[in-house]
Amino acid sequence: MVVHTVRPYNAEPPLSALAGEAITPADTFYSRNHGSIPDLDPAAWRLTVDGLVDRPLTLSLDELRASFPERTLVATLQCAGNRRAGFITVRDIPGEDPWGPGATSTASWTGVSLADVLAAAGLRPEAAHVAFAAPDVSELSGPAEPYGGSITVAKATAREVLLAWAMNGRPLPRAHGAPLRAVVPGWIGARSVKWLQRVTAQTEPSCNYFQAVAYRILPPEADPDRAKPGDGISLASVALNCAILRPGDGDRLHPGPVEITGYAYAGDDRAVARMDVSLDEGRTWLQAGLDPPDGPWAWQHWRITVDLPEGEAAITARAWDTTGATQPEYAGHLWNPKGYANNSWDRVAVSCRP
Ligand code: MTE
Repeated sequence: MVVHTVRPYNAEPPLSALAGEAITPADTFYSRNHGSIPDLDPAAWRLTVDGLVDRPLTLSLDELRASFPERTLVATLQCAGNRRAGFITVRDIPGEDPWGPGATSTASWTGVSLADVLAAAGLRPEAAHVAFAAPDVSELSGPAEPYGGSITVAKATAREVLLAWAMNGRPLPRAHGAPLRAVVPGWIGARSVKWLQRVTAQTEPSCNYFQAVAYRILPPEADPDRAKPGDGISLASVALNCAILRPGDGDRLHPGPVEITGYAYAGDDRAVARMDVSLDEGRTWLQAGLDPPDGPWAWQHWRITVDLPEGEAAITARAWDTTGATQPEYAGHLWNPKGYANNSWDRVAVSCRP
């Protein structure tokens, strides 16, 4: 793993480890933490469902599993800071880690639909948001605060949002949220709250620091240290994005046929419709082949074999989605003070020598 910080543990896989793997093994899956990983006793752990519900619930893991139908789906998680390194080459982002495209991974998740749990609790019509609370404490919020966030009721009652206890068919590893985490497919990874303890239906979004202050796109000239709750644009669904996983930036290759491969991911209710690769910095484009996705919430790998002549080569990639939208060309146009949502064209430079 490429470790950005040890405490808290933040690491992404090398891009070559993601190449060609539709499902990311748990020990390769990126880890994004804002505080220490809590050690929860699964036997003592309970999930509380409260707020704007008619029947508040307190459930052990066994009760949760016995009360609701089990669901498994493949979903990609992508951190909003994915590809921040590309922003930092435009302008520095002090205090934030230079994540590459490896803050994106895909697993099969097993759990129950949050929709079923909210229905059993009797979600009231005035509820507009569903907040998640966890016990891990972060110092990043100024006064230390446990991690939390929220999603809209529309998303929370969509079938795909899971409360998951298994990852790739095995018990959820502690680092990825055991005993239970939210999995919010198609939304930024920040909303997939790990070590979930409380689900609260409410009229407003969560006032947790990681919802109200962080994970928001501030105007380019704003000072993130002075951001107030509600400043900037709150991030929810993931922006259309792609990455070149192989060859790697700076690789030395032999001239001749070279397979270029990577991932593309559209997020929420969009899908990847086409994948373009350019060898002349975007003047002309070739269409790459897309692997079939593992369902509507999974990334798609793509590949194309091109003939690279001797010399330097610049490889550029961009995806299109089912709404006809494509990715912006330059990271500089998207730069924001916390470095979120860099979905500009991806580029690698390689040199071909016999
Ligand atoms: N949940 C808790 N309790 N604490 C956290 O720090 N990080 C969030 C989210 N859930 C976080 C959390 C962020 S920013 C991301 S991108 C994903 O978890 C990462 O999940 P992973 O570490 O399993 O890859």
